Amino acid sequence: MKHKIVVTGGLGFIGSHVVVELQNEGFEVVIIDDLSNSSIEVLKGITSITGIQPLFEKLDLRDKPSVIDFFKRHHDVMGVIHFAASKAVGESVNLPLLYYENNLNTLIYILQELQKKETSNFIFSSSCTVYGQADTLPITESAPIKEAESPYGNTKQIGEEIIRDTCKVSENLKAIALRYFNPIGAHESAKIGELPIGTPQNLVPFITQTGIGKREQLSVFGADYPTKDGTCIRDYIHVVDLAKAHVAALNRLIKGDNTGNYEVFNIGTGQGSSVLEVISQFEEVSGQKLNYKIVERRAGDVIAAYADTSKANKVLGWKAKLNLKDALSSAWKWEQNLN
Ligand code: UD1
Repeated sequence: MKHKIVVTGGLGFIGSHVVVELQNEGFEVVIIDDLSNSSIEVLKGITSITGIQPLFEKLDLRDKPSVIDFFKRHHDVMGVIHFAASKAVGESVNLPLLYYENNLNTLIYILQELQKKETSNFIFSSSCTVYGQADTLPITESAPIKEAESPYGNTKQIGEEIIRDTCKVSENLKAIALRYFNPIGAHESAKIGELPIGTPQNLVPFITQTGIGKREQLSVFGADYPTKDGTCIRDYIHVVDLAKAHVAALNRLIKGDNTGNYEVFNIGTGQGSSVLEVISQFEEVSGQKLNYKIVERRAGDVIAAYADTSKANKVLGWKAKLNLKDALSSAWKWEQNLN
């Protein structure tokens, strides 16, 4: 019998790629999504890639009675991978309560239902943002958690604490938090990818939209940082590699290989790339020059962040296989396909 896995936010950027990998590995998937920052068309993309249409329920997870009802109807759920959350850093500064409600109430309601079950497995979508500017690079999981730069970042920190505290008193609940570095790219089929609404806040969608002519010019936020070329360093991970890390984490919990009932893993490539390096790699894969300009630093940006991935490599048996070039060429193919 197939294991039934719920993917909240399963029509979003990372969620949709995880659904594909789960279906490829033989899991039965139920997607929950409220379509607030995603499109129902994504369901077609997933179905076309895997040949399997996942179950889908349009549901607002802030509505507690609906969450209770959902888990009553799906009492055979084996695990939950929780992506549904708001993720715009700037917006979170202006709308803190919306972010705390969206990102934390929903988490609490799901955990309350999982706690009632005899056994349950939970994967949480966390972020390297919890480290802030780490004192030592590459960043290991034991690096201290710094005060959050934004309400969004704070929801990831508090989210982890909520799960950790709940796991302490719930032996039947096993959880893993995955701290993603910078997810980019798209499925090689170009049938699913990132769909930013409005002006992209993240680097790679802004680059591909500039490359295609939707945006006139990319602003490079600061070239006076203490790095090799003055621009910030990040660990850009291909979303397909990232998706596979979720399957590895889930399998670890299902098999009972976990060493505690709450574990945390960094998910990145271990390689740091500067903004200018990303631009030059993009120019190489797209065969065109990118129009960009160096401007002032963006508030809240850390200088450099890249992962020490040895824990995930060793314990999850997972390693990123694709490089920056692969990721940028898939993002570019996706952008071209959208137009
Ligand atoms: C951002 C969030 C992080 C969140 C992640 C989710 C901030 C400060 N951080 O990470 O909390 O988890 O997104 O995806 O918003 N850049 C430009 N021009 C642009 C856009 C970005 O130069 O138009 C630069 C940034 O200054 C940064 C790098 O590109 O150095 C990556 O930026 P971005 O893609 O926004 O990711 P993060 O800031 O690392």
